[in-house]
Amino acid sequence: MSDRKTAANEVLSVIEKRSSARAYSAEPLTQAELDTILEAGLMAPTGMNRKEIHFTVVKGDNPVLKELDEEKRRMRGQGEQPHNFYYEAPVLIFLSAETDFKWSRVDAGIAVENMTLAAESLGLGTLIIGCIYDALHGEKQDYFSEKLCIPEGYSFQIALAVGHKTDHKTPHDYDRAEQVTVLG
Ligand SMILES: Cc1cc2nc3c(=O)[nH]c(=O)nc-3n(C[C@H](O)[C@H](O)[C@H](O)COP(=O)(O)O)c2cc1C
Repeated sequence: MSDRKTAANEVLSVIEKRSSARAYSAEPLTQAELDTILEAGLMAPTGMNRKEIHFTVVKGDNPVLKELDEEKRRMRGQGEQPHNFYYEAPVLIFLSAETDFKWSRVDAGIAVENMTLAAESLGLGTLIIGCIYDALHGEKQDYFSEKLCIPEGYSFQIALAVGHKTDHKTPHDYDRAEQVTVLG
């Protein structure tokens, strides 16, 4: 059971409205939209102010995405799927980070959510994508790292699909009593 209240300000309203989009039109992002989203990622805090996240922007028609989709399905023993892993979004942003830095995963998570909320505030849809993690850490890791310009010593953390959404899912439900403990 949700405990949603009417958002008290613009930031809270964007957080409240966001939900994953799994259908997009072919309309591309403007350069200004893409820049705003990237800046939101760059402005995210990182452990020890390390700024160890690398952002790789990939257009939806880049052939590497098809190869990655195939490798993901191969590793998961999946046949043809009704959708590719990014649901034909016009832009993907791959976040990689220093493999050996303790906070890389957390920092990538914070950065991707910053970008997600920035996109939502611009009226764009997003999908955070982790299902390609194994494909990007498997036997073809070096191949895909080169194709995606992932820096030496870095590895894939998470990706974000962005575009004009054509579906409108209701934000997910939650049970506050189940998930929150307040110590007196
Ligand atoms: C770390 C992470 C990885 C995710 N990976 C995928 C993914 O690979 N494919 C997908 O369709 N959704 C993915 N999602 C989206 C979640 O399924 C989604 O956030 C969740 O179902 C809640 O729905 P909402 O985003 O609409 O609130 C991912 C979300 C997170 C936070």
